Parts: sequence; C-alpha cells; structure tokens
Amino acid sequence: MIVTTKQLFQQAYGKYAIGAYNINNLEQTMGLFKGNIDSKAPFIVQLSKGARSYSHKLMLETMMTTADQIFPDAIFAVHLDHGDEATCMDCINSGVYSSVMIDASHEPLEKNIEITKRVVDAAHAKGLVVEAELGLLKGIEEDVHAADHVYTKPEEAEYFVKQSGCDSLACAIGTSHGAFKFHGDQKLRFDILEEIQKRLPGFPLVMHGSSSVPKEEVDRINAAGGNIKGASGVDARQFLGAAKLGVTKINIDTDGRLVWCRVHREFFRDQPEKFDLRDAGKIFIPEYAKFIAAKNVLLGSAGKLDEVRAALKK
Ligand code: G3H
Ligand code: 13P
Ligand code: ZN
Repeated sequence: MIVTTKQLFQQAYGKYAIGAYNINNLEQTMGLFKGNIDSKAPFIVQLSKGARSYSHKLMLETMMTTADQIFPDAIFAVHLDHGDEATCMDCINSGVYSSVMIDASHEPLEKNIEITKRVVDAAHAKGLVVEAELGLLKGIEEDVHAADHVYTKPEEAEYFVKQSGCDSLACAIGTSHGAFKFHGDQKLRFDILEEIQKRLPGFPLVMHGSSSVPKEEVDRINAAGGNIKGASGVDARQFLGAAKLGVTKINIDTDGRLVWCRVHREFFRDQPEKFDLRDAGKIFIPEYAKFIAAKNVLLGSAGKLDEVRAALKK
C-alpha cells in the first residue's frame, strides 16, 4: 500500500525512524521489498533524478505499482529524492509518488522559501507531502558542491517551516553523501536537532547522508579487487538518539551500493567462468534484503508494520 511519508511519520515521531532507501533497478526493488517484509517494517522508496534518468522515470513508476501488487503486505511511500522544481511537478502529476523532496537549499533563504512554497501548494492540492531542506551537506548534493558543512540554523528552520508550509525538513548536522564522510572523529551536531525540536515540537526532521560505510564491507570489496580508500560513515548506534530528537526519516543509499559492489566483485572473482547476470542477481537480491532488514533493526522500524497498518485503518 502506497502511503504518504506524513502518515508514516505520525506513527514514528520520537520513537523510531523510517528507512528511506534509494533504488535504481529491478534487483534493488525486489531486495528492498523482500527485506522490509521480512523485517515487518514500513519504509520509504527514494527515487533520485539520477535514478529516473538511469532506469527511465516510467520504468521506476511502473516498478513501484507492480511491487505494490507483488508484495500486498508492504506499506511504503514513494518519494522523490533531491528534486528541483520541475522534477517535483512531474512527480506530483505522476499519480504514483506520494511525497517529493524539493531541494533548493543552495538558494538564499527567501528564494528557498518561495520555491518550496510553490511545490507545497501543488503537492498538497493533489494529496502529496513535501520534504524541504535548509543548510548544506558538505560535498555533492545533486548538482551542487559545498566545500564545507553549512549547518541548519534552528531559528531559520522555525521561520522556514512556517513560511513554506513544508511537511518535513532535512537538516544539515554534519553528515554528507557518499562513502567518505568524516576525516577523524565524527561529530554530528545533535545540539542543532535539540534546538530545532524545541522550536518545532512534533515536526518531522530528516537526516540525509546516513550510510554507515561498514569497514567489513569495504575490506571485502578491496579484497576482491576494489580500491576504496579512506572510507567512513555514520555510526548507526546514533539513529535512535536522532529519532528521539525528531528525526523520522533516515536516508541510505551508499551502503546499498556497497552491498551490490561486494556481491558482484566476489561472485565474478570466485566464479570466473560465469557470465549470466541472473546468477549474480540471485545472490544480490537476498543479500540486499538481508541488509535492509538489519538496517531496519537499527532504525527501530523493524516489527512496526502491524502497528502502522492498524493506525492507518482508524
Ligand atoms: O543524495 C543522493 C543520493 O545518494 C542519490 O544519488 O543522485 O547518484 O542517484 P544519485
Ligand atoms: P548516503 O550517501 O549516506 O547513503 O546518503 C544518501 C542520501 O542522503 C540520499 O538522499
Ligand atoms: Zn540526500
């Protein structure tokens, strides 16, 4: 069942976070749905602009509605990740997405509000909800590069949410996208979350760049011919602490890419005579499902499916 992120956040707020997983293709889709059903978790499927051009937007939309039929027990939101205004409007009119992210965080505050508000008005008119962003994650965010973190300012967050009417807010607290997040100690600014929660009690916050980039995974990739150096990620033991401070959505993409890379490198290293993509896919799909189920335990969303289903029926 496709629901809005707002419906999921109402159940999760203050207790656990919903996993928001980026997918690009059929194998990830099958593994994603299987992993969430196995761990009885509600979840968010994230489709980025890059994914929509890689697998064609219509292919992805069709996969979402088909997965809904194949996995009738699944409760999930279909969400556009890091959209610009035009892509948001396209998704709002698609009839498949239940939520969009407008990322105008690289614009000055008033311009960010203006763009976000236009998307909010169009989305709400069609029953969708909107995630917006304030602050900049260090590194690459879609097409924009930030040399350093621009942390979200709590007083601006309060003003931004009230002016724009957005339904959730991505905050910059020191994470970044990709496999190279920290040099030395990781310092996540939970003090910023605390202050935002005081100013916006009950309002759902989002943490991007939350992959853990496990050392064991990177080591296995490198042992199978990879060359990933200096990788580091977010300590997943911080997820529940973030959830208590209002983080209801935690974005994970890179860790899933590492699973894909490890499975395929090891498979073709160990079985050099093989060339059928399905032989590797048959290993990847259950491995990806296992990865999703384990992540949901850390997020606290594992086991919450029946509770969410019951709440949705009320
Ligand atoms: O925030 C970025 C996500 O990891 C999506 O990445 O734009 O390469 O699909 P992508
Ligand atoms: P990671 O690169 O840490 O997986 O973050 C993904 C993300 O924030 C997608 O929007
Ligand atoms: Zn992101």
